[in-house]
Amino acid sequence: MEMRKCRTGILLFMVIYFIIAIFNTIPPNTKMVIPKPKRFSQPILPFLTSQESITPLINTKHFLVSAFMDQRRKDFDIRIIGIFKRNSIQPLYCFFYCGEFFNETTSASVQLHFAHFNYPYGPADVLCRMPENCSATHVTLLTQPSPDNISDHLWLPIRNKKNPNEERLNFTVCISTLYGDYNNVLQFAQTLEVYKLLGVNRVVIYNTSCGPELDRLLTGYSQEGFVEMVQWPINKYLNPSRGWRFQVHKGDLQYFGQIVTLNECVYRSMERSRYVVLGDIDEIAMPYKHNNLNSLMAMLQRKHPKVAEFSLESHVFPHSYFDPSGRFSLPQWRNVSGINILEHIYREDPDRKMFLHFKMIVQPKLVEQTSVHDVPKKFGVKYRVPWNLCRFIHIHVARRTSLMLEELKEDKRLWDFQEKLIPNVDKALQRAGLLTTES
Ligand SMILES: *[C@@H]1O[C@H](CO)[C@@H](O)[C@H](O)[C@H]1NC(C)=O
Ligand SMILES: *[C@@H]1O[C@H](CO)[C@@H](O)[C@H](O)[C@H]1NC(C)=O
Ligand SMILES: *[C@@H]1O[C@H](CO)[C@@H](O)[C@H](O)[C@H]1NC(C)=O
Ligand SMILES: *[C@@H]1O[C@H](CO)[C@@H](O)[C@H](O)[C@H]1NC(C)=O
Ligand SMILES: *[C@@H]1O[C@H](CO)[C@@H](O)[C@H](O)[C@H]1NC(C)=O
Ligand SMILES: *[C@@H]1O[C@H](CO)[C@@H](O)[C@H](O)[C@H]1NC(C)=O
Repeated sequence: MEMRKCRTGILLFMVIYFIIAIFNTIPPNTKMVIPKPKRFSQPILPFLTSQESITPLINTKHFLVSAFMDQRRKDFDIRIIGIFKRNSIQPLYCFFYCGEFFNETTSASVQLHFAHFNYPYGPADVLCRMPENCSATHVTLLTQPSPDNISDHLWLPIRNKKNPNEERLNFTVCISTLYGDYNNVLQFAQTLEVYKLLGVNRVVIYNTSCGPELDRLLTGYSQEGFVEMVQWPINKYLNPSRGWRFQVHKGDLQYFGQIVTLNECVYRSMERSRYVVLGDIDEIAMPYKHNNLNSLMAMLQRKHPKVAEFSLESHVFPHSYFDPSGRFSLPQWRNVSGINILEHIYREDPDRKMFLHFKMIVQPKLVEQTSVHDVPKKFGVKYRVPWNLCRFIHIHVARRTSLMLEELKEDKRLWDFQEKLIPNVDKALQRAGLLTTES
């Protein structure tokens, strides 16, 4: 009995010893889990890439936004869009990563945009040649030609390398900076849904901040994929101006960096979208003789093949005047904050002797630099689209304040979309939990 107990004890000890011995041969950090198959084998990069859309450039007062492949001109291959302190331009050098660090830099040419509105900071393009035999995936800028002291640099991925698998879009709408506690939820939802009905595939929105309900609405659209949010924390780095007249609206940079975002959006869309609409969120590019933007542009492009910039008049519909019938003052929208665009049907005829407001539809591949009301640098011509064919509906405070209601023109074009528009807007509001009354 004693002996058996003892043998069992020894056996048990040996078994335990064996188990421990086996486990000890496994390296300490190995977890016994089956690795998930990776869909893409992501190479481990020997540097840090920028995780934000605004990247301070070390040893300078400048900021980098995005780098793009751009071989439309002969003298450079890479365009980096940045925000530069205009009085502090210094020589810069492009340093490339092409699977390994390239051993030489190439000198960078800094081109400030004219649309800086006299603010100390302005949009800039940094143009670089890619070295021979280097198919670069990432780039950064140095203040000296020799590629040393690079460990603290943040690198930018080079975008717009041709990708045949990328989805081709017809229309992208670019909305420059959302800021403050902007919470015009109803107008935003209606505008996005009108654009969907007009054939727009993507809306890119630059977001510095917004109100809580609008945040929920946009989160829904962004999960769906229709909206692409680009976080734009410009106020973290600069004191952005709320206007565009330096003497009046002080600050470091015109209107939250509007021109920078519009250019970034054009380049971001260049390889994936045939057309880009450059307007504000309270504006809708509206064809008046076609059912959607696709058929309008097909017709225009056939007649005017070399056009880069389709210039459209923007007409104000003052939101102080309401449709007297009230037929679109719907109960389910009463508690949703913001303007109901279907209720504003009176249009100001612009004073053609005075300033006309233009916004654009562009072919991004033919645009080099854009501004707000025109495209100063392009590889094509400008065409002024007749206003009765297509114009921007701009629901806004009155511009021609001297006009009486009787002098405004009735324009119910938006009503043509009501049948599909209303249920679609309701669905979007419901998804965001913003409808208190069932429709
Ligand atoms: C960089 O590498 C190339 C080819 O490997 C070589 O010819 C060239 O001399 C190198 N340049 C420097 C500055 O080391
Ligand atoms: C680039 O590669 C080609 C072919 O491998 C070679 O002949 C050429 O010398 C290289 N150029 C440079 C600048 O290294
Ligand atoms: C690189 O860094 C070292 C130490 O921080 C410094 O002494 C040297 O001057 C730097 N070189 C350049 C070219 O900036
Ligand atoms: C783009 O427009 C064409 C022609 O109208 C259409 O056939 C195609 O489905 C559209 N593509 C997208 C992504 O909307
Ligand atoms: C917009 O930016 C603000 C501030 O960073 C953030 O709190 C909010 O969630 C953002 N909204 C969206 C929809 O990206
Ligand atoms: C309107 O919304 C507010 C805040 O979301 C809520 O407290 C209120 O009950 C709502 N009113 C109606 C009539 O739904």
